[in-house]
Amino acid sequence: MDDVKDTIYFITGNNYKFNEIERMFQKEKISYILRQNTIDTTEIQATSIKEVALFKLNSVKGKINNSYFIEDAGFFINIPLNGFPGVYSKFVLNAIGNKGILKLIDNFKNTKAHFETVIALYFQPMNKTFLFEGIVEGKVSETIRGTNGFGFDPIFISNEIPTNTFAELTTEEKNSVSHRGKAWKKLIEFLKENQ
Ligand code: IMP
Repeated sequence: MDDVKDTIYFITGNNYKFNEIERMFQKEKISYILRQNTIDTTEIQATSIKEVALFKLNSVKGKINNSYFIEDAGFFINIPLNGFPGVYSKFVLNAIGNKGILKLIDNFKNTKAHFETVIALYFQPMNKTFLFEGIVEGKVSETIRGTNGFGFDPIFISNEIPTNTFAELTTEEKNSVSHRGKAWKKLIEFLKENQ
């Protein structure tokens, strides 16, 4: 590759997500410039995060003349809600908020939850799509705690850092264990191998 850096677009309207990924990107010696792109994508209601991510990626096909990626995540409360809200995370958060979610849980001594994410990349040099997945396991906090991050961060406690909710962590701390952090590391490895 010549010394003119290629741009890679992260298509998202969510500035928190862009900020998380930008922080991780800056630490890497990599020959791409990361930029945010807020072009509209189409989000479908499907049964898996992977399906949603692929549809979202394909909805901007032909509109961007570079490599680009999107990311789609969900919050799954396995115990006691059998995975709810999962693929309905956005809708549920908007409808009832973290306060409403906590009201659905009767026993906080035994909860199990995880975040799942899929980064879908269109890689222009190969004219191909690649998926990178990340999961973080943990539990639900009994109360809403912390002001950092976004979404369900104030009610999620990871197994790796059991003293704090995600909203009580710095961006760096969250990235070190989070679903997006893990998927991101896989994307970075891929870009390093293919630059
Ligand atoms: P999205 O469709 O990928 O933006 O995410 C679905 C829902 O999960 C949205 O309501 C987000 O706020 C929430 N969400 C996604 N990632 C995170 C995270 O890292 N922490 C907390 N909530 C998240």
